[in-house]
Order: sequence, then structure tokens, then C-alpha cells
Amino acid sequence: MNALLRILSLPAQLLTKVPGLGPFMKVLSTTVGQKILMAITGLSLCGFLVAHLGGNLKLYAGEQAFNDYAHALHSLGPILAAAEVGLFATFALHIGLAISTTALSKVARRKDYAIKETKQGIFILPNGGASNWMMLTGVLILAFLVTHILDMKLKANPGVDYSVATNAEKVIDNEFHAVKAVLSTPLNAVIYITGIVALGIHLSHGVRSALQTLGINHKRWNLLLKIGGILFAWGVAAGFIGLVVWAMAYKG
Ligand code: HEM
Repeated sequence: MNALLRILSLPAQLLTKVPGLGPFMKVLSTTVGQKILMAITGLSLCGFLVAHLGGNLKLYAGEQAFNDYAHALHSLGPILAAAEVGLFATFALHIGLAISTTALSKVARRKDYAIKETKQGIFILPNGGASNWMMLTGVLILAFLVTHILDMKLKANPGVDYSVATNAEKVIDNEFHAVKAVLSTPLNAVIYITGIVALGIHLSHGVRSALQTLGINHKRWNLLLKIGGILFAWGVAAGFIGLVVWAMAYKG
């Protein structure tokens, strides 16, 4: 475990040794700098989630409205492709930084622990509470995302019957029916609800934590910010879960 943590913290530590680095890269080699970038990427991903939920809520407006929306989105062509590259790069950066900061602070804490142990004994325990939950839920969200891209983007989940969404040439051209087929497959409904609950837990700590990292932190507003973060997290999660329930119940 120790060796693994050292390996994972290596890129950031090596960064500090490179001579002539610009101030940005120097900041990035520190835990504080990495946490700031993690907060920015995390909040950007929240922006994507709101837009994504907003688009998907068009499912309630019916087949025509949703297919029109999907068609408009796809007709953006290279703009959509560039946005997708940016989105996946943001996800990758957020995940990479999560691994790096966790490893860096665990390595630092172990050194700290070794020094303080003799002074304060049992009271200095490695405390990874919230960050451990963030890692676990983060891994669940990543697993969900892999399935989700396979399901919705590549339309390549062998457990889904996409034939309800194909045209005469057997090409999938009805997004409304394709999405409904994905969400109403029982195994998928379980995977989606698990992934989305993990997302709710992740965001209910993550949003508040990101705002705090960025200095949005005042005694007077802290309780409000905490409640706001939790409401945002579970509001988004409930919005997505509602779509799964709707698809399971939809008989059209
Ligand atoms: C019931 C819930 C959801 C539905 C119905 C849904 C629907 C979709 C659809 C139809 C696509 C394909 C878009 C396209 O063809 O360009 C898609 C892509 C995607 N979804 Fe979801 N989604 C849901 C939940 C989520 C959640 C919870 C997340 C994040 C944790 C997420 C992240 C993504 C990402 C990253 C993509 C790829 C974006 C792209 O390449 O354009 N989705 N989703």
C-alpha cells in the first residue's frame, strides 16, 4: 500500500524537481494547487450535469420533442465533438487529480503520523473519512459512466434491445426509443440508480468542499452553503432517477 501511494504521488513530486517551470505548473505540483484545479473541474462537471439533465428532461415532452433536441445537438457536428473532447479531458483531469491529491496527502500524513505517534499516541489516527467516501463513490460513478457511454453513445450494450429504435435500414435513428430501451432494461435500471445515488453522495460533499477550496467560506453563510450543496446534489440525482422510473413505467 505504501509503495502504491508513493508511486501515485510520484508525478506531482517529480513536477517540483523540473527546473524552470512556470508559476502555474509549480502551483500544480502542490496539494493545494491540485485541490483548486480539482474544485474547478468538479464544478465545471456540475455545470455539464445541469445541462445534461435539462436536455434529458425533454423526454417528458414526448418522442418528437426529444428527437428534435437530439437531432439539434448532433447537428452541431464539430462543435459537439470539441465539447465532448473538453468534457472527457475535464473528467480525466478531475480523476487524475483526485488520485494524486489523495496519494500526496496520505504520504504526507504517514510521515506526520510517524513523527507525532510517540508524542500523542492513539489520538493521531489517519482520518480519511470524507475523502474515502469520495474515492469510493467516484469509482462507482466512473464504472457507471463506462456503461452509460456504451449504452447511450455507442449503443453497444448487448443486454439492450435497440430494435425498437431502428429504421427500415436497421439503423438506430430514434433517440427517444433508444434511451427508453436502455433505461427500462431491469439490470440497467439497477446500474443507473446505483450510479446516480453514488453521484448524489459524491456531490453532496463535493460541491461544498469545492466552494470551500475556492475560498467561498464565511461563518454567516456556511450552513446555507452546506444545505445548498446537499439540495443541489440530491436535486440533480432525483432528476435523473425520475427519468429511470418514468422509463420503467412508460407504456407508449
Ligand atoms: C437517466 C439518466 C440519464 C440519461 C437518460 C442520459 C442520457 C444520455 C444520452 C442520450 C447520451 C448520448 C448523447 C449523445 O448521443 O450525444 C448521454 C451521454 C452522456 N452522459 Fe448521460 N444520461 C443520464 C445520466 C447521466 C449521468 C448521471 C451522468 C454523469 C454522471 C451522465 C454523463 C454522460 C456523459 C459524460 C455522456 C457523454 C457525453 C457526450 O459524449 O456527448 N449521464 N447521456
